[in-house]
Amino acid sequence: MDFNGAAVLVTGANRGLGRAFAQEFVKRGAKVYGGARNPASVVDEGVVPVQLDVTDDASVAAAAKELGDVSIVINNAGVLVAGEDVDSIKAEFEVNFFGLVRTTDAFAPILKANGGGALVNVLSILSWVGRPAWRGYAASKAAGWSLTRSTREALREQGTNVIGVHAGFIDTDMAAAQTGPKVSPEEVVSQVLQAIQNGDEEVLADDRTRAVKASLAS
Ligand SMILES: NC(=O)c1ccc[n+]([C@@H]2O[C@H](COP(=O)([O-])OP(=O)(O)OC[C@H]3O[C@@H](n4cnc5c(N)ncnc54)[C@H](OP(=O)(O)O)[C@@H]3O)[C@@H](O)[C@H]2O)c1
Repeated sequence: MDFNGAAVLVTGANRGLGRAFAQEFVKRGAKVYGGARNPASVVDEGVVPVQLDVTDDASVAAAAKELGDVSIVINNAGVLVAGEDVDSIKAEFEVNFFGLVRTTDAFAPILKANGGGALVNVLSILSWVGRPAWRGYAASKAAGWSLTRSTREALREQGTNVIGVHAGFIDTDMAAAQTGPKVSPEEVVSQVLQAIQNGDEEVLADDRTRAVKASLAS
């Protein structure tokens, strides 16, 4: 797939991994829509700010109405909420799972109209690994992994490549308190763009994630 001239939506494009996606797509000649809760926080040259809160049906619908030329959607927006009580876990599911459902349903017809394209869901190594301190986040990413597989089947006929991206710690605000090895956002982005071009269905962004995925059968 040629990125030059392609219209790309990145959710959560104002910082972290989403910002790195937006910057790289601009470099590759794409028309980049940077979705953010606060569009004024999208400041990179070449990125068109778009108001987009993935927890808000009206916001997602308004963005879809405006962005009819999109052929690549990067579902990047995510939250890790401090606390593992029911309300904290619900807040994580609202963004990490239901946010994916909202943007998928709103943009799948647009991807179809534009030839299929690609839909990328940013998930996690915690789609597979249990961690009591992050049980809600992990469950939301496991649910996102399941949704990714269902979406892949649903959109196969319309020619949309649905890609799941799994990573351990990425060097962003979300992992700022973590001391373990971190992959850079740029390295994750580079692998995802290669996967889009190859037509791959999954990105395992670091050694630990690759080892965990390989061990699932045992
Ligand atoms: N960092 C890691 O270690 C790591 C590892 C594996 C996977 N991931 C995943 O990678 C993705 C990007 O995370 P990150 O590391 O870049 O984290 P981050 O630095 O905390 O950035 C999160 C992004 O999501 C946006 N966001 C949050 N809630 C939103 C909503 N309701 N609607 C739209 N945007 C929203 C944030 O916007 P605001 O500025 O408005 O809050 C921000 O742009 C997430 O899906 C995350 O789960 C991260």
